[in-house]
Amino acid sequence: MEKVVSYINSHRDNYVEELKEFLKIPSISTLAENKPDMKTAAEFVAGKLRSAGMQNVKIIETKGHPLIYADWLNAPGKPTVLIYGHYDVQPVDPINLWDSPPFEPTIKDGKIYARGATDDKGQMYMHIKTVEAFMKTEGTLPLNVKFIIEGEEEIGSGNLEEFVNKNQELLKCNAVLISDTSLYGPGIPTLTYGLRGLCYMEVEVTGPNRDLHSGTFGGGVDNPINVLAEMISKLKDNNGKIKIPGFYKDVVNLTKKERDNFKTLPFSEKKYARELGVKELKGEKGYSTLERIWARPTLDCNGIIGGFTGDGAKTVLPSKAKAKISMRLVPNQDPKKIAKLFKSFINKIAPKTVKLNMKDLHGAYPIATSLDDSATIAAANALSKVFGKKTVFMREGGSIPIVVTFAKKLKASPVLMGMGLDSENLHSPNEHFNLNHFHLGILTSAYFLNEYSG
Ligand code: BES
Ligand code: MN
Ligand code: MN
Repeated sequence: MEKVVSYINSHRDNYVEELKEFLKIPSISTLAENKPDMKTAAEFVAGKLRSAGMQNVKIIETKGHPLIYADWLNAPGKPTVLIYGHYDVQPVDPINLWDSPPFEPTIKDGKIYARGATDDKGQMYMHIKTVEAFMKTEGTLPLNVKFIIEGEEEIGSGNLEEFVNKNQELLKCNAVLISDTSLYGPGIPTLTYGLRGLCYMEVEVTGPNRDLHSGTFGGGVDNPINVLAEMISKLKDNNGKIKIPGFYKDVVNLTKKERDNFKTLPFSEKKYARELGVKELKGEKGYSTLERIWARPTLDCNGIIGGFTGDGAKTVLPSKAKAKISMRLVPNQDPKKIAKLFKSFINKIAPKTVKLNMKDLHGAYPIATSLDDSATIAAANALSKVFGKKTVFMREGGSIPIVVTFAKKLKASPVLMGMGLDSENLHSPNEHFNLNHFHLGILTSAYFLNEYSG
């Protein structure tokens, strides 16, 4: 390991320069105009895997954006680790709130600013550099490694899901290593053992067959915006409980042990509120903030569209209003079941004055992984070694849709070894990645591969 570690330590500047090149590619998966950039990003990843010494590097076309596969399987008798990451990024809007352009990577105070810096280009790139360090120094890896990198994580991973289902032999492995989550705090070695799931719905309400003069018609017909607002307000009660019948039926409650573990983590509600610019926190009654964001389901309106939204005043009764409503799910809730329950509740509470059209936009299953798996133990040891502290175990409020598919179909334990921070503005302006964590991540990945090899 000595040679590998000193190689990694002496190449810090090269790694940052290469990451900059990667971050310049605007690989926004959801926008049609960025389709060519997706290809450029896939080619970048494939090229770096090749020069790192990986074999069978392939760009695999899908109905959407390409996947990249690579392997190095020359360690017979040793375990196989599948490394997953995503090269797609979120849109950049609102662009005027960025202090430097999102695709012109800028370093300030040891952090690199760009869209995708922490989610997930920077984190995914760490593992390519780890493999390269082994190959350049030892000429070999301590175990078998496969990579599967996708370009559709931010839009639900539909095509990767299909690929995994059809290629279980190709992707066969003992553990899946993923860096796409957060550390509990700066410099705190962290393993994430739970992810929430997601059920994302769109509700469209149609009232009169056209927009109407609000004086001539106001008072005579129902207003779709008012109707939508009333329906949204019926989805939760004052204690933050979701009122959809059956919603909590499959929820696995937190154990005493888990609640006790959460309590050992340093957390200040005051500081949390201050950082977010709110006077008071709010959530489900009877649960702490960490419990609410990691291990309890939620329902939130993500967007609401309708009526006149320009400057000034226009007296109008809109014909339509639309809301985007998402529910974060916890084990063992099923996004498909939840979508059904949601639809039938909305149908029940909708007045006869309007027509409804509902769409199920996204789904992800929640997961909680076992803590005594050998890969998890190896990862916790590697983290402690590199960070010089005891590894903490946490859950995560966000979702990574493909993780459950890996666990179920490949029967491999997911190791969520993220190096990001929740404060690094993922999905929002001024996204960045702490370069110290970037380097520690490369080292941790190296120690993990070594430790897990036996
Ligand atoms: N890397 C995130 C998940 C995440 C978020 C981890 C916050 C740690 C902290 C991932 O890229 C993501 O954004 N997932 C989406 C999934 C959705 C688009 C299906 C999410 O959670 O909203
Ligand atoms: Mn991500
Ligand atoms: Mn994301």
